[in-house]
Amino acid sequence: SADKQKAHRSMGCPVTAAAAGGCPLSHQAAEFDPFGSDYQLDPAEALRWSRAQEPVFYSPKLDYWVISRYDDIKAVFRDNITFSPSIALEKITPVSQEAQDVLLGYDYAMNRTLVNEDEPQHTERRRVLMEHFAPENLERHKPMIRRLTRDALDRIIDQGEADLVDEMLWEIPLTVALHFLGVPEEDMGKLREYSIAHTVNTWGRPSKEEQIEVAHAVGNFWQYAGKVLEKMRATPDGPGWMRYAIRQQANYPEVVTDSYLHSMMMAIIVAAHETTAHASANMFRRLLERRELWEELCRKPQLIPNAAEECLRHTGSVVAWRRITTRPVTIGDVELPKGARLLMVTASGNHDERHFENPDELDLYRDNTVDHLTFGYGSHQCMGKNIARMEMRIFLEEFTRRLPHMELVPDQQFTYLPNTSFRGPDHLRVRWDPSCNPERLSEQAREPRMDFEIGAPAVKDLARSVRVADKRLLAEGIVGLSLEDLHGRPLPNWTPGAHVELLLDDMGRHYSLCGDPDRPERLELAVLREPESRGGSVYVHERLQVGDEIGIRGPKNHFRLDERAEEYVLIAGGIGITPIIAMADRLKRLGKPYTLHYAGRSRRTMAFLDRLVAAHGDRLYLYPGDEGERLRINAVIGELAAGRQIYACGPERLLEALELATNDWPAGVLHIEHFGAAGTLLDPGKEEAFEVLLEDSGFTVRVASDQTLLEALRAAGIDVASDCEEGLCGTCEVAVTSGEDIDHRDRVLSREERNEGKRMMACCSRARARISLAL
Ligand code: HEM
Ligand code: FES
Repeated sequence: SADKQKAHRSMGCPVTAAAAGGCPLSHQAAEFDPFGSDYQLDPAEALRWSRAQEPVFYSPKLDYWVISRYDDIKAVFRDNITFSPSIALEKITPVSQEAQDVLLGYDYAMNRTLVNEDEPQHTERRRVLMEHFAPENLERHKPMIRRLTRDALDRIIDQGEADLVDEMLWEIPLTVALHFLGVPEEDMGKLREYSIAHTVNTWGRPSKEEQIEVAHAVGNFWQYAGKVLEKMRATPDGPGWMRYAIRQQANYPEVVTDSYLHSMMMAIIVAAHETTAHASANMFRRLLERRELWEELCRKPQLIPNAAEECLRHTGSVVAWRRITTRPVTIGDVELPKGARLLMVTASGNHDERHFENPDELDLYRDNTVDHLTFGYGSHQCMGKNIARMEMRIFLEEFTRRLPHMELVPDQQFTYLPNTSFRGPDHLRVRWDPSCNPERLSEQAREPRMDFEIGAPAVKDLARSVRVADKRLLAEGIVGLSLEDLHGRPLPNWTPGAHVELLLDDMGRHYSLCGDPDRPERLELAVLREPESRGGSVYVHERLQVGDEIGIRGPKNHFRLDERAEEYVLIAGGIGITPIIAMADRLKRLGKPYTLHYAGRSRRTMAFLDRLVAAHGDRLYLYPGDEGERLRINAVIGELAAGRQIYACGPERLLEALELATNDWPAGVLHIEHFGAAGTLLDPGKEEAFEVLLEDSGFTVRVASDQTLLEALRAAGIDVASDCEEGLCGTCEVAVTSGEDIDHRDRVLSREERNEGKRMMACCSRARARISLAL
């Protein structure tokens, strides 16, 4: 409307380009209010409309551009030159002169600190101050976190109820933060009050009176930080990161300045403690709300690292972060001017279904949860992420063991400190029956069951327990297995081409799913006895029995059926029929034209013949070798035809022949699935070390000859998701920005993609000379 348009203009509405067609702001964009109840209640939900319709929009109420989709947010984080972090800690609500005067009275002179600093200073400082955050140096903090958590539990365990926030969740992260910094653990109450004031000051919307109050607290905080720093200077050889920074000042006086140390002292107390306290409270709340997930964790503590990470994704404690453009730039199809202020709602990106499957679900088995944006991304990504993870995991390990029967006090109202960015409930009330405490029955229950490695959760630990519901002979040398959930719950959905990994005697083997995707209560697979293989199939044939409990990972799909083609040729050799039969079933249901070609040694060894004939009779071509029938590749695939795709799974020589026959066809026509890795694995005797420049963070990482690139990246604190770790799945892909001599060892990239040289699989591929990665 004209009125609204006038209103935007008077706020300095920058959206004028489309003025001819009226105000281009949508109603939702105009109404968006991060201090309103919708956003405060659930920021991801409040921006659902934006993710769907207007992923980059100008908010006149805030005078910021809001960004809500995963890819856009990540792209902004990645480019810290175009998108400067300088406004990350700016007051989002302009303060009154009066409040500014109060701050001046305390000589308040907060300067840039790591998080809001531009290059090149930022990377110089980060490099100089990094050492204490390295995984091997964090290990020593574990015993203290354990002790603090156990002490807190000892205090409450016989009470039967507690407010977890008040009793421990803010105190422990603060104590750990102070310990990490080397600050004496006194005045903790005061520090909590100061930190809250800092949050309101930075991300809140305080009233005029509150601004004065907050200014006094922030001023006091500033002076307090200064005093502690002075005390530390007297004992520079003592423990903690701040003293390390003081010592580094002597080596790099122009990098680590006085003002810098003072500002950092204050900023990091907030960065380290409120974020972690809120994250932990959000985590307990979400897990206890979904009782079955809590119980699953009590039974399977190896899921704890991923559960904590998934809670950081689902309900993060930092929900939005800021950048400002340093030049005109386009995000999506929106043109932003230089100086545009951006509010990236990371909580919204974390619920973007373009990146996360079933994003609103809390899934303990989600294997890419580590991609969440709650710690930011790129060169400024949270340096303390592994400290926070360590705390959250130990909290869960202690509580799931000592208070598995704990529950949320029903009907409690959760309240939040109103602000754009830091989010966690003010209180979290839980209760339990102390007479059921496991340690009253056995002292054993007091002893830790698990220790967790520092760093991102390993997907390797994400095994789901299932029971073998049925096992039967399908053909000579092939058994069929049906798997069901231990508690009768539906198993996850899957799509044709998907596989699961069976964990047998600590061995993982991939098997394609071949049942009915619409029967989620059962997963069906077929296993060929392969005496020469690593032993998994022999185990299935000889030892596995109906009723046995086994672990599976997945389902995952790296052999996806593109349902948009007009026509399909499906080719299976031997046991390769398993993914192909699921594809054929699907195509039949979609009513798409297809032919199915199935070769084997003899009918006796070919599984599913009856089912195939019944369901796909007129499209089925069988090639039993002992009857003299040969699958002739050129005849089956014919000429290259627009709209036709080929899917094949079978022995290596069949797949190689197919690749050869389609050598000069465009990418995307032939899709093949290999059974196993070939020559991808590390042979330390033969490998060469190489160096990798990480462009987003400016660091150089050396990959030793006995290390994979994935391992080296993780040791440097870079989280890269992985799954198969043998070059089969594509999960660990990283983008290569320069360097040509890459030794690709995966089975994911096509020849064309290898020639392009833009990506590689970190779990197996190497380089013969220095390369740069977009990390
Ligand atoms: C930066 C979140 C815990 C220290 C950040 C950033 C976010 C964040 C969003 C900005 C990232 C970016 O701009 O890309 C969190 C969350 C935490 C947490 C959600 C807890 C769950 C901690 C802890 C410490 C810490 C425990 C220290 C002991 C830092 C530092 C930076 C930072 C030093 C600045 C890094 C830089 O700019 O180079 N954190 N943080 N954080 N965080 Fe954390
Ligand atoms: Fe599967 Fe690297 S983790 S290809």
